[in-house]
Amino acid sequence: MGRIVVLISGRGSNLEAIIGCAQRERWSHQIVAVVADRRLAPGLAFAERWKIPTIVVERADYPDREAFEQVLLQQLLALNPDVIALAGFLRVLGAALIERFAHRWINIHPSLLPAFPGLQTHRRALQAGVRVHGATVHLVTAALDAGPILAQAVVPVLPEDTETSLGQRVLLAEHQIFPRAIAWLADGRVRLRDGVLQWQGVDASERLLGVVA
Ligand code: GRF
Repeated sequence: MGRIVVLISGRGSNLEAIIGCAQRERWSHQIVAVVADRRLAPGLAFAERWKIPTIVVERADYPDREAFEQVLLQQLLALNPDVIALAGFLRVLGAALIERFAHRWINIHPSLLPAFPGLQTHRRALQAGVRVHGATVHLVTAALDAGPILAQAVVPVLPEDTETSLGQRVLLAEHQIFPRAIAWLADGRVRLRDGVLQWQGVDASERLLGVVA
């Protein structure tokens, strides 16, 4: 059984999707805690509803990033996670912390990486005029939004799309690919060896979700 920790900053719709998938598919893995960097993160309510322990490491309580990450590190060490899922955790983490749990971090990003790393991805996609947009699940490395890609969902951009409408369709796609990829990592069906992803029992087609407009 794998120990999964989910980190959030806000709404928590991806967290809700992960919890829902874990229950539907009767994962043998356990979501052992949800950690938020904001006491007021609305997503904490999903964890509480499902009796998943919550931990808050409020960034504003610490003088600098180092002090904040030191406390986060202690919490994570105590939780002993096999998978740490960044589900809308809006904070860039330092290389030392990433290294400490190397190959266990997994992130959802709302674009087809390597296009549009960083923030405001839907606005930038519309401005750029791309015809397809989407979401990416990747392993986390010290470089921002750049780790090896586990799964992608392709979402067509419609002529009438606004940032909101496009973002909503991408979010629905996120909810499909993220829990699935978390399960692969927790199952050991994907591993990173010498910088290369090694797959076992996951068909290449499962790593791509195409959303029809
Ligand atoms: C998602 O779009 C995710 O891709 C991005 O932040 C957003 C979080 O949404 N990293 P939610 O909190 O999971 O609803």
